[in-house]
Amino acid sequence: MDRIAITGGAQLNGTIPVSGAKNSAIKLMAASLLTDEPLRLTNMPRLADTRFLGKLLTRLGVQVTESDGPDGQQTLLHAPEITSGFAPYDLVRQMRASFNVLGPLVARSGQAKVSLPGGCTIGARPVDLHLQALEALGAKIDLHEGYVYAQAPRGLKGAEITFPIVSVGATEHAMLAAVLADGVTVIHNAACEPELADLQDCLNAMGAKVEGAGTPTITITGVTRLKGATHAVIPDRIEMGTYAVAAAMAGGEVRLTNARPGLIDALLDKLKEAGAGVEPTADGVIIRRNGHRLDSVDIETAPFPGFATDLQAQFMALMTTAKGESRIRETIFENRFMHAPELMRLGADISVSGGEARVRGVERLEGAEVMATDLRASVSLVIAGLVARGETTVSRIYHLDRGFERLEEKLGACGAQVRRIKGDGEPEL
Ligand code: EPZ
Repeated sequence: MDRIAITGGAQLNGTIPVSGAKNSAIKLMAASLLTDEPLRLTNMPRLADTRFLGKLLTRLGVQVTESDGPDGQQTLLHAPEITSGFAPYDLVRQMRASFNVLGPLVARSGQAKVSLPGGCTIGARPVDLHLQALEALGAKIDLHEGYVYAQAPRGLKGAEITFPIVSVGATEHAMLAAVLADGVTVIHNAACEPELADLQDCLNAMGAKVEGAGTPTITITGVTRLKGATHAVIPDRIEMGTYAVAAAMAGGEVRLTNARPGLIDALLDKLKEAGAGVEPTADGVIIRRNGHRLDSVDIETAPFPGFATDLQAQFMALMTTAKGESRIRETIFENRFMHAPELMRLGADISVSGGEARVRGVERLEGAEVMATDLRASVSLVIAGLVARGETTVSRIYHLDRGFERLEEKLGACGAQVRRIKGDGEPEL
């Protein structure tokens, strides 16, 4: 399998264009199941996850065509009819967000059989809230042998849904199902992540009536059918935040474009507090650090607009060489510190206890062989490798390919010494 090798020590100087958001794109792709007309998504990232979901959607009856149009990378998704309502274990297990085809399938064709996703390296990640939302909308849910059987032969009905905790996926799932329900649905304690507002905009362009996404209360007035539309995927705030951290780590000056800095205020505030230069621009942000060592700052992950859990690993990498001690609290997922032992292989001084990690900054990291454990953990190792003395090799980078488009090219264009080593096809043990 492929690995990434980084030779540490180079500053980053240049421009990095931010791609469309993975975590928005995959929910928008699922929306194509709701209409028999074509949905054209522009500003589409080309990632393992989008390719993977494309494969599943094709099995369900969606024609998926990728092309480079005048608006850049786009994907056309067209489901004249649903040819199968079955999403098997091997496909859902590999990418949890595949589970979100359940709601649209039931909404459009009255039934579906979708595998439960199973566990995940960052936590148990149950789907109970997804199922409660679909039941509230009138779907009959049965669980057998690892599969969810959902039925609503006479269609879904609008309902009041109150989530006991904030869940991005369950809120999106409820929205995707409720747009074709009969009557009004109100979602209380909804997730406020920007991807929700993006989904609302796309669904409304398709003829849905959704209001309030981006706030804790979303109101959906069901319609009988949706039509085709063209929609541009929002910029990826996690990719933007990752490169902002990379620039602060390596030093130099990096301009991030095609981005919306307002979506990562919590991170930018922490970067400023640590001593990095942060200058918002019309379409992004400039991050700079000139030589001086950063100060340690504490972070605690939280739902949007708090500090994103998807940026926690990257920030931990940044703190490994800062002055003093940083406390990092993870409140969203119970097992999201698997990067800590790998960062320690590079010489970081970290101790983890429950949901808190303490990072005592060291003068320098040393290159070593490390292993990616999940998507954001992988990129935190690349970030650490940017300053580690000598060479750092990151294995299992299929995690990285799930969510970072042309990473070596984007970092390399700013002067980083990053290269992909092609594997021999042998699986890593
Ligand atoms: C989304 O996951 C993102 N994934 C995650 O990004 C992100 O970390 C997460 O939101 C939080 O921002 C996608 O959008 C594809 P949740 P999601 O439901 O929707 C618990 C990445 O690296 N919960 O908001 O699965 C859950 O266990 C990924 O790109 C239940 O208990 O997250 C967690 O503790 C990783 N029951 C909390 O809620 C449920 O039914 C928040 O999870 C659902 C969730």
